[in-house]
Amino acid sequence: MSVQRVCVSDFEEEARKVLPKAVYDYYHSGADEQRTLADNIAAFTRYILCFGPIISHTNMEISLSTMLFFIVHQYSIIVRLCFYPACQAMGIGMMLSSWATSTIEEVMSAMTAKSGTGGVLWLQLYIYKNRELTLSLVQRAEEAGYKAIFVTVDTPYLGRRWDDMRNRFKLPPHLSMSNFSTASLAFSEENYGNDSGLAVYVAKAIDPTLCWDDITWLKNHTHLPLIVKGILNGEDAVQAVNYGVDGIVVSNHGARQLDGVPATLDVLEEVVQAVQGRCDVFMDGGVRKGSDILKALALGAKAVFIGRPVLWGLACQGEQGVTEVLKLLKEELRLAMALSGNSLPNTPTHIQQK
Ligand SMILES: Cc1cc2nc3c(=O)[nH]c(=O)nc-3n(C[C@H](O)[C@H](O)[C@H](O)COP(=O)(O)O)c2cc1C
Repeated sequence: MSVQRVCVSDFEEEARKVLPKAVYDYYHSGADEQRTLADNIAAFTRYILCFGPIISHTNMEISLSTMLFFIVHQYSIIVRLCFYPACQAMGIGMMLSSWATSTIEEVMSAMTAKSGTGGVLWLQLYIYKNRELTLSLVQRAEEAGYKAIFVTVDTPYLGRRWDDMRNRFKLPPHLSMSNFSTASLAFSEENYGNDSGLAVYVAKAIDPTLCWDDITWLKNHTHLPLIVKGILNGEDAVQAVNYGVDGIVVSNHGARQLDGVPATLDVLEEVVQAVQGRCDVFMDGGVRKGSDILKALALGAKAVFIGRPVLWGLACQGEQGVTEVLKLLKEELRLAMALSGNSLPNTPTHIQQK
């Protein structure tokens, strides 16, 4: 009899067994000694949920779908295009990486082919040295019906992910970064030397000179809401707002860039306070349980993004596995809210530091 998976860790444990080592390493790894990777998760134990007034919860209406968003990166070598249907069916949004192995358009058609409760697609954008190419991604997202652009600002170079360096990470031959037509941009060249292939790719293609004026440039070229992903302090958050962004994702890239930066939950409140409601604040990093989501919401996040847990679901059981992970997190969140007497979670009094 197969063992029942009752939490995200169970999915990860099973995924670790079924995935080729280099794939598991790529998904799991953080940068350097992975201290921030551990801290992203540990940070949630530094906060405790406090009970609100215990009222009748029998008819508690919780709009979970607005709180639980989900970020996806289509690097799986097992199944492609199976994240979106799972999200779509559950009314959860999905952020598609510029580097996905299915195109912007393919992922959108996967959505329209499936009827569901209406998930939403957003594009995660890297700013390439080639600005025309960058804008073409934005334009394709607009034309395909994506609802926002999330520009990643924490990757001028790739962090040192030791496992990927040891494994000389690159995509298997049947996959490429499908949004690009040339081998050099599609990350499908033969030789990336004795390093992480992705680090070599980033050094070649991504613009390391990104600055705030580029946000203005991007805003001038899209009518979609623009959200910056990768903010870790109040000062940068204020700058972002002054440059007119519509939202901020407090993120350290799943601890994959600079080891030693703060855990995202630890800086969330600072960012929320700094922006003073002038834009939406989201967070990601280390969210593994429904109660983690509730803690982030209580500290002022409008919603959270989930990275690795859905990859573990995918590795275990394809689309069904992704659905199971999302259902699990939703149910855990619902229960945490009910048990803490907290039907309106954005209430700072319901959380305190240990
Ligand atoms: C396998 C993998 C690939 C990722 N690729 C990207 C990417 O292409 N662009 C990006 O902005 N962030 C990327 N990230 C970071 C995620 O967007 C997100 O910030 C992070 O995974 C959240 O942390 P969590 O995995 O602990 O939930 C990636 C993360 C993982 C695990």
